[in-house]
Amino acid sequence: MNPGLKTAVRDDENVKKVLVTGGAGYLGSTMVPMLLDEGYDVVVYDIFKWGVYPLTPVVGNPKLTIINADILDNEKLEKALKDVDAVIHLAAIVGYPAFNVEGTRNVVNALASHQRIIYASTGSCYGAVEGTCTEETPISPITLYGETKAEGEKLVRAKGGVGLRLATVFGVSPRLRLDLLVNDLTAKAIKMRTFDLYEGGFRRTFLHVRDAAKGFVFALQHYNSMSGQAFNVGDESMNLTKLDVAKLIEGKVDGCCITESNSGTDMDKRDYAVSYARIRSLGYKANIDVGTGIVELLKVIPNMKSDEIPRCKNV
Ligand SMILES: NC(=O)c1ccc[n+]([C@@H]2O[C@H](COP(=O)([O-])OP(=O)(O)OC[C@H]3O[C@@H](n4cnc5c(N)ncnc54)[C@H](O)[C@@H]3O)[C@@H](O)[C@H]2O)c1
Repeated sequence: MNPGLKTAVRDDENVKKVLVTGGAGYLGSTMVPMLLDEGYDVVVYDIFKWGVYPLTPVVGNPKLTIINADILDNEKLEKALKDVDAVIHLAAIVGYPAFNVEGTRNVVNALASHQRIIYASTGSCYGAVEGTCTEETPISPITLYGETKAEGEKLVRAKGGVGLRLATVFGVSPRLRLDLLVNDLTAKAIKMRTFDLYEGGFRRTFLHVRDAAKGFVFALQHYNSMSGQAFNVGDESMNLTKLDVAKLIEGKVDGCCITESNSGTDMDKRDYAVSYARIRSLGYKANIDVGTGIVELLKVIPNMKSDEIPRCKNV
């Protein structure tokens, strides 16, 4: 617990218009309807790598504007940012590490000092760590993705922005990702029923997509208490091993049996538990547990047509 922090006071009375980069993605397509419900004007700035359909439920809202443009296009970016009060910066692509840093640098450089910025950072910054990570734990990413996300967070915080270090997100969103651990294992359980899990003892930490989106709305509304800082976003009750997740899935999928294998290795060596005391002390709480997320996934994944299944891994 950071003794300097007190339950935060809402301070968004001057925030009317919010631009969301990557607003049509997995996280964004859950967050944009929440922002509209809160009464903000919302501008989605996206190249629509995964299509625009995830936003169709909210296109009838006159407060929504859609801009099809790249954050690497400085001219369009500067124009779009001119009259917004805040930016939620989600746009990122795995496999393009230079882009992730350059894109973030463009966004940060285009901001005026009164504009708020909240950045989707990640717990992947921590890598493999003994004990429990707090925001003071030295950053030691073990993937290029984690490295570039940490670099982006640094740029944003230097501008007075907020870095939200998200746990691995799970659950259903209008743009569904099946490459995230809980979603991936649930999809495998539905398809294969029986499969091997490598390195089931690795500790990971999880966050439902609606709780993740709620974290950004929280930061937007309590910005002055969070400015310039990093916050882990998640809940200690969802610090689980991979095997814990597998057992939860087994309990919900008929005939499913996930066995632990000692013969293979997981390319992803992250092994860490995280403290969420800092953001909780301000008044944020993640509420949706992994079991609930699995139940939601089970309503959707078995009914997906093959052309609805995301084709490749992303972030
Ligand atoms: N999902 C997770 O578990 C998780 C965890 C931690 C952090 N994050 C971060 O959250 C952010 C959003 O992740 P997501 O899961 O929603 O990913 P996503 O791939 O579903 O969405 C990313 C969106 O960004 C857009 N985009 C990509 N490049 C762009 C560009 N150059 N200009 C404009 N738009 C562009 C894409 O079209 C897409 O709509 C990313 O920054 C990611 O690193 C995600």
